[in-house]
Amino acid sequence: MGHDARRPRRELSVGEVARRSGVAVSALHFYEAKGLITSHRTGGNQRRYGRDVLRRVAVIKVAQRLGVPLATIRDALKTLPEARTPNAADWRKLSEHWRADLDARIRKLTQLRDSLDECIGCGCLSVETCPLRNPYDELGEAGPGPHLLDPG
Ligand code: FES
Repeated sequence: MGHDARRPRRELSVGEVARRSGVAVSALHFYEAKGLITSHRTGGNQRRYGRDVLRRVAVIKVAQRLGVPLATIRDALKTLPEARTPNAADWRKLSEHWRADLDARIRKLTQLRDSLDECIGCGCLSVETCPLRNPYDELGEAGPGPHLLDPG
C-alpha cells in the first residue's frame, strides 16, 4: 500500500494500450485470447491492463518481427513474473534464445536460396533431382533418403 500511495499505478484501457503501443485494438484482443497478455474487468465490464502490458506488447512485436511463433512468445512470457514489467535482463535472456532460432532459420533459408540458384533456368521440378522438391536433401550425405523408397 505504501509505495502505491507514493506512486499510483494507474491502469490502462484497451484504447490507451493501442494508442501507446501502436498496436490495433483487435490485435490486443487477439493477444489476450492467445494468453500473451491479461486484463481484468471493471464493474462496467471494461478491460483494464496493468502498465507492464506496454513492455509485453513491445516484446511481442519485436519477437514477431523475428518470426518467433506466437505460441513460443506466449511460453516465454509465462516465465516472466506477472507482477512486474519484464526488465532488461528478462529481454536479454529471451532475445538470446530467439537469436539461436533466428540463426538456424537463416541457415535453412540460405540453403534454400542456394538450392533455388541451382534451379533457375531449369524448371524440371523433378522429385529425384531438384533440391527444392527433395525435402531430404540435407540427409543425402548420411545415406539414402526416404524418397528413394518411393518408386515415383
Ligand atoms: S527445377 Fe530443376 S533442379 Fe529444381
